[in-house]
Amino acid sequence: MKGVILAGGLGMRLQPLTKITNKHLLPVYSKPMIYYPIECLVAAGITDIMIVTGGNAAGDFIRLLENGEEFGLSRLHYAYQKGEGGIAEALGLAREFVDPDKVCVVLGDNILERTIRAAAGTFEKQAQGARVFLKEVPNPQAYGIAEVEGGRIARIVEKPAEPKTNLAVIGLYMYPPDVFDIIPRLKPSARGELEITDVNNHYVQAGTMTFEVVDGWWADAGESIDSWLEACRLVAASGANKGE
Ligand code: DAU
Repeated sequence: MKGVILAGGLGMRLQPLTKITNKHLLPVYSKPMIYYPIECLVAAGITDIMIVTGGNAAGDFIRLLENGEEFGLSRLHYAYQKGEGGIAEALGLAREFVDPDKVCVVLGDNILERTIRAAAGTFEKQAQGARVFLKEVPNPQAYGIAEVEGGRIARIVEKPAEPKTNLAVIGLYMYPPDVFDIIPRLKPSARGELEITDVNNHYVQAGTMTFEVVDGWWADAGESIDSWLEACRLVAASGANKGE
């Protein structure tokens, strides 16, 4: 399975910290934010990795990460997203890199306490469809929210004004190669983006979406300055990605 880390976008919610640099190059406790998703994939045995980024600071990713040697990789792949057309658009840029494999996608501002190795193994054996990962949150209006009925996801609603559950779909997604046939058929949402939630609902409607609720803590370091601070605190307290 290939790994794709999405690190484009403008990071408007962390302004003015993101006025000059890319959000994913900001520190989270002792390391740049982008280190955490890379370490997460490598710890799961996913070592063929592409980073999709954009904006003026894109070259700084290469200066920082070089060929990935520091993470035990022999090379890293990069793609450039012009503008910020959404998470699904950014993923679409990885088509040639991923094809014909499955792909594990991590949003560049998401940090998980525990390893995803077992989850990756489970998905490798999944015959069809996709897999998402859920976590209970106190502020469901800020996330894609899953409505679970009878042990299956019935639908996912992006940032609902009146959430029916508090189960956030976190920024970790596993897809079969046909995800790249779905993305070109998406229509931009009201905020002008190709939404990953629309991709996920495609698999929900096809009846081929599986899910699990993640153990350990999960942090979205880019949701707000307070969520960034909380991510720093969680990392400082426990050491992310070290647990088996
Ligand atoms: O963190 C989990 C949430 O991430 C999910 O619950 C939501 O369903 C999902 O839409 C997403 O919501 P956010 O509003 O937090 O997404 P954000 O715009 O912060 O983008 C998340 C990451 O995706 C960001 O770190 C960089 C990448 N990205 C985003 C956009 C809009 C790109 O690479 N390109 C883009 O155009």
